[in-house]
Amino acid sequence: MGIILSTEKPEDYEEVINLTDLAFKDMPFSNHKEGELVHKLRKGPNFVEELSIVAKLDGKIIGHILFTKLYIKDVEKSYETLELAPVSVLPEYQRKGIGSMLINEGLKRAKEMGFKSVMVVGHPDYYPRFGFQKAEKYNIKSSIEVPADVFMAIELIENGLKDVAGTLIYPEEFA
Ligand SMILES: CC(C)(COP(=O)(O)OP(=O)(O)OC[C@H]1O[C@@H](n2cnc3c(N)ncnc32)[C@H](O)[C@@H]1OP(=O)(O)O)[C@@H](O)C(=O)NCCC(=O)NCCS
Repeated sequence: MGIILSTEKPEDYEEVINLTDLAFKDMPFSNHKEGELVHKLRKGPNFVEELSIVAKLDGKIIGHILFTKLYIKDVEKSYETLELAPVSVLPEYQRKGIGSMLINEGLKRAKEMGFKSVMVVGHPDYYPRFGFQKAEKYNIKSSIEVPADVFMAIELIENGLKDVAGTLIYPEEFA
C-alpha cells in the first residue's frame, strides 16, 4: 500500500472527524464523541499542529492520530507531556499496520520536537509494543478515573519521566 503520512491541514478537518467517528463506531468502550473530541482539541490552547497526522492512500484519509499538550502536576511543580488521543483507522483498513505507522511517526516527531514523554489511555495489549508501560510505574496518576492497566506512559528520552510524579490533568474536553 502506498500510504503517505503528513501533517493534517484545515482542508482535511471534516474528513478526519468523519473518519474518527467511523473508526470508533462499533467500539464497546466508546462514548461515540471522539470526532467531537478532535474538533474541540484542535480549537484549544494545547493543540500542536505538527502532531496531528493523517495517513492517506490515493488521496483518501484512512487514518489519523493526535497528540495534545498536557501537564502532570504535583504540589509545587508542573511537567509538560503529551496525550496520545485519539488514534483512528477506518474499519476496512484496520490491522494492516497503519495505526502502528501513525503511532511511530507521532512518537518520532514528538521526540524531535523536544517532548520527553507521552501518556495514553488505551488497549493494554496494544500500546506496550511501542514501549508504553503502566503510568503507575512512574508514579503518575490520572485526574479522571481510569483502570490502572489502561493508563500508560512512555519516555521519549532516557529518564524522560525520572523525577516526574503527580497527576496528569485532563482538560474538560476529555471529560
Ligand atoms: C486501534 C487502532 C488505531 C489500531 O490501528 P491498526 O491499523 O488497526 O493497528 P495495526 O495494524 O498497526 O496493529 C494491529 C494490531 O493491533 C491490535 N489491535 C487493533 N485493535 C485493537 C483493539 N481494539 N484492542 C487490542 N488490540 C487491538 C491487533 O490485535 C493487532 O495485533 P497483531 O499485530 O498482534 O495482530 C485501530 O484498530 C482503530 O482505529 N480502532 C478503533 C478506534 C480505537 O480503538 N482507537 C484506539 C483507542 S485507544
